Amino acid sequence: MAVPAVTAHYATPGILENMLQALEGMGKGPQTVAPADLKACDEFHMGGAPAAAHLLAQMDFQNTDRVLDVGCGIGGTARAIVCNYKVSSVVGVDLTQEYVEAGTAINAWPGIQSALAGASIELHTASATALPFADASFDKLTMVACIYICVCLYIYVCMYIYIYT
Ligand SMILES: C[S@@+](CC[C@H](N)C(=O)[O-])C[C@H]1O[C@@H](n2cnc3c(N)ncnc32)[C@H](O)[C@@H]1O
Repeated sequence: MAVPAVTAHYATPGILENMLQALEGMGKGPQTVAPADLKACDEFHMGGAPAAAHLLAQMDFQNTDRVLDVGCGIGGTARAIVCNYKVSSVVGVDLTQEYVEAGTAINAWPGIQSALAGASIELHTASATALPFADASFDKLTMVACIYICVCLYIYVCMYIYIYT
């Protein structure tokens, strides 16, 4: 029950079309866009990209790290990890399929591909509560503005059960 509620809250039609339109207004497109051009909208949480940058700066990333970003949205944090810390492999998971599809399409834009410089970003539709990876698949994990949602849902479900059963 909780999963459709979360995805219905986040799923937004026309993400790519809206982004392409905004880019056009900046005189850019898939060929010429750089990850920094997306920062006004690809890290959507309190404090935006600067807040995430503060978090990422504490992570002591190594080039060889395999990083998992949980609740990756449209992949803004994953791109920041690759571009700013030269990490070669980031996997993102998010419950909202529309975000994963949009993020995957954005990562395929030639301007973004060029900035990723051969590093791998894979985005998957999956839940933080049922990750489809073997134990010890990753060296580091980031989770930006996602855990409170999982915790809140847990609290709501507990309250519902307590009140109505
Ligand atoms: C506020 S957005 C932040 C997205 C991204 N981390 C960012 O900073 O731009 C929260 C994200 O968490 C995702 N989410 C919520 N519950 C989740 C869960 N149990 N597993 C995976 N993703 C989840 C939502 O789909 C949404 O994309």
